[in-house]
Amino acid sequence: EKEPITVLVTGAAGQIGYALVPMIARGAMLGPNQPVILHMLDIEPAAEALKGVKMELIDAAFPLLRGVVATTDVVEACKDVNVAVMVGGFPRKEGMERKDVMSKNVSIYKAQASALEKHAAADCKVLVVANPANTNALILKEFAPSIPEKNITCLTRLDHNRALGQISERLNVHVSDVKNVIIWGNHSSTQYPDVNHATITVSNAEKPVRELVNDDTWLNNEFIATVQQRGAAIIKARKLSSALSAASAACDHIRDWILGTPKETWVSMGVYSDGSYGIQAGLIYSFPVTCEKGDWTIVQGLKIDEFSRDKMDKTAQELIEEKTLAKSCLE
Ligand code: NAI
Repeated sequence: EKEPITVLVTGAAGQIGYALVPMIARGAMLGPNQPVILHMLDIEPAAEALKGVKMELIDAAFPLLRGVVATTDVVEACKDVNVAVMVGGFPRKEGMERKDVMSKNVSIYKAQASALEKHAAADCKVLVVANPANTNALILKEFAPSIPEKNITCLTRLDHNRALGQISERLNVHVSDVKNVIIWGNHSSTQYPDVNHATITVSNAEKPVRELVNDDTWLNNEFIATVQQRGAAIIKARKLSSALSAASAACDHIRDWILGTPKETWVSMGVYSDGSYGIQAGLIYSFPVTCEKGDWTIVQGLKIDEFSRDKMDKTAQELIEEKTLAKSCLE
């Protein structure tokens, strides 16, 4: 039998955590034959709720689940973890300034970076979900210099999946026949959902999404706005932010990263920019990537038109500003 993989989920008593931990325990993240040990971290006010989640995990009798740690101690939580899913963070509350939220999260991610660096497995893979996701990941990277930058990513797979979903709904095709959309940039409303290279499989042949949709006005306006504002639409409908779709996307992100992307298929991941596509190096920016043997690679050589260039630069600009704001919180 395989050795168990230890997965840390921070903010595990929250909404996404509650949807995510059973998915992991069922094998949705690491595969159906991979035993897992779950480490769940939350803060003191949520300690009792976290205990309740642990009780439910035991009660669910998941065959793959080989251990559960529920703790408010960040050192215990990070001990020997192979995969860290960082969902815990400080939410923006009404009337709060952007800088105040940033400042709270910068201090959380700075502290957790050090704990991961000291106590996690040397090859630990990190996925930051908590907002501002790209910038939290950047802070984590800065304060965990011994974790390779290739191992620190943020979640834009939810946005990617939302884009697939919108195309599938529009054309009434199976979502699994739609592929190679791209989310460029920040996990925020400036993200650029790009369908210029996306295809749909129709009777065993791949056709461009642009050709099948045959409505550039919809693709260049409503489609983009719907994906960018989907998070807000869910909050409006549910009075709570996306949780099951976020948890599912986190599983997709880690699964594809570790087990590889399907042939001729890419996914979107927030990763450390090496300057590809003229995006400032050193930002955590969402790119199209393929994964193999536990490593991601940015897809190269895609043609970028003027419309896309402008949108890719705008979202990069926002990330540059967030980076400056985050740095100012550290002074
Ligand atoms: P939530 O408020 O229900 O849960 C967050 C949990 O984190 C709470 O239990 C809280 O006690 C905990 N927490 C706070 N500070 C912590 C710390 N220092 N260490 C450990 N735990 C801590 O929020 P929800 O709905 O689960 O969302 C979590 C985060 O994910 C939010 O920042 C949200 O904006 C973000 N998000 C990101 C998405 C993405 O696609 N990247 C999609 C949806 C949400």
